[in-house]
Amino acid sequence: MGLFRKKLKQEHKIMLQHDRAAGVLQSELHRPTPECPNPEHWSMIDSMTAEIEVLEFIATLVTTIKPRLVVETGSFLGVSTEWIARGLERNGFGKVISCEFDPVVYARAKERLEASPLKPWIELRNQSSLEMKIEGTIDLFFSDSDPSIREQEVKRFLPQINPNGIILIHDASSHHKVIREAARSMEAEGLLSVVFLPTPRGLAVAQPRAGRS
Ligand SMILES: C[S@@+](CC[C@H](N)C(=O)[O-])C[C@H]1O[C@@H](n2cnc3c(N)ncnc32)[C@H](O)[C@@H]1O
Repeated sequence: MGLFRKKLKQEHKIMLQHDRAAGVLQSELHRPTPECPNPEHWSMIDSMTAEIEVLEFIATLVTTIKPRLVVETGSFLGVSTEWIARGLERNGFGKVISCEFDPVVYARAKERLEASPLKPWIELRNQSSLEMKIEGTIDLFFSDSDPSIREQEVKRFLPQINPNGIILIHDASSHHKVIREAARSMEAEGLLSVVFLPTPRGLAVAQPRAGRS
């Protein structure tokens, strides 16, 4: 029977782990990096959803810079989307558009968010970040989709990102070389100014270079 069982996609496997955890926090499981040698000091719900401390940081960033439009790529179960919405609710204005391209994951996120009191602040789309069309200026962009396309999606939305806005690129630790290198190379190209926060999975906080003038 085991031999014939279809291999579960990573996202779907972690979705089941998320259900089993039932919201109980555990210590961060990502391996130590030179910049973050004690990841166990951080907490997580599951290894797809951003670290709790990073979610808290994003919500505080929302109340700090008061974005009118937040765009998130990679909703997974919508937990980070809800934290962004929590900040928007406190501000009393704005919306978050989040995209998830896996239809199974999207359906679960949709179900969760439909039942959430934060629903009025959220627009969830079953689309790829590389196809999604956004109207207007993006004040906060949270890039958290597939590691291989982060550079492509940041470049795709950059012309629409407020020069005084903020770009967050998750998983930019020295362990996830592709994403850290993508952030570095966009800085070297003169597109962004970047700071790397030493969190377990790494968070690049960036601004369009135009905003530095
Ligand atoms: C790390 S998880 C996102 C976690 C979520 N932001 C959170 O912290 O709660 C990445 C998600 O991106 C989705 N994804 C991958 N490539 C994508 C793309 N091109 N467009 C939209 N979603 C994508 C995956 O299916 C997965 O659910």
